[in-house]
Amino acid sequence: NGALGKVWNEEMSSSMLGKRLRKVVQNYQAMNKYGVRYSRPESAARRSKLSGPELLCQIKNTVQIATLTPDMEPFSGFPWASQLPPQQITANIGPFKTCAVVSSAGSLKNSGLGKEIDEHDAVMRFNAAPTTGFEKDVGSKTTVRLINSQVMSSEDYHFLSSNLYSAGILVSWDPAPFSSDLREWFNKTDYPIFKQYQRYRRLHPQQPFYILHPRMEWQLWQRIQDNMVETIQKNPPSSGLLGTVLMMSLCEVVHVYEFLPSRRKTELCHYYQRFSDAACTLGAYHPLLYEKNLVKRMNKGSDHDIYTHGKVTLPGFMTFDC
Ligand code: C5P
Repeated sequence: NGALGKVWNEEMSSSMLGKRLRKVVQNYQAMNKYGVRYSRPESAARRSKLSGPELLCQIKNTVQIATLTPDMEPFSGFPWASQLPPQQITANIGPFKTCAVVSSAGSLKNSGLGKEIDEHDAVMRFNAAPTTGFEKDVGSKTTVRLINSQVMSSEDYHFLSSNLYSAGILVSWDPAPFSSDLREWFNKTDYPIFKQYQRYRRLHPQQPFYILHPRMEWQLWQRIQDNMVETIQKNPPSSGLLGTVLMMSLCEVVHVYEFLPSRRKTELCHYYQRFSDAACTLGAYHPLLYEKNLVKRMNKGSDHDIYTHGKVTLPGFMTFDC
């Protein structure tokens, strides 16, 4: 796949995609399901490209990491609001020294990264990504699992009955309207996140389970768009980027694995499934290509680390002043 080059090129654009994928991305760029209203800020239009450290500061200063609490309207009026954790996730867990974020990419297969991943103080995984049977490549520790509302709702994932989800802290999210108004979102979720949340909590009342405030999705989306020349898909960022930024607020250093593909790059979608599609690595619905450009720009590690380990090093927000 020539589109990926040796390691991720931070100037990747949709023009470097194959014909089919380019068409899919263009279709999503034209759609506006969530009512995104965007005009490039004057400051962004005037300045030249931000450096990595400037970008890190911009994200630290403008993306608020928040989870739903029982006092927030309209939830405060519902009996089940008491199932929500009373405090913010950032008040309850961490800070951790070292964290690993394990993308679910097919290139983790045969990576042998399991031991290195497990040596971190906290490990984040996504959606239905298993560890059992894959320990050698992805490790066995799960501290936080970030899941989307589709995984919570679709029969295929057995969210309520599988023990895949019972390790660690759960954090869920759902693509909300751009307004991020909680009442508007409550009436217009993509999938029935709140119904499934209540059911899961009744079955597993002891497991910590947070719901991301949807403002975060769109604040992060704006950072991506502000820093790209092209028009990006008007859909929320992928779980991978949301989780990475969440971990940057909980950890001193974050190592992200196979988000930027290593020399093992493959069209295999996930290390745990047979399905192949370049869209999994390059994005279709999510502005994943542009997310990867930003992560490449913020990376403090070497290209060699990317090439051999698919590894990116990002500093936690607590470790730098802006
Ligand atoms: O597919 P899923 O969303 O569960 O994967 C978790 C995250 O890993 C994605 O949101 C994406 O950021 C990243 N990923 C990737 N390349 C792949 C598969 C997943 O970058 N081939």
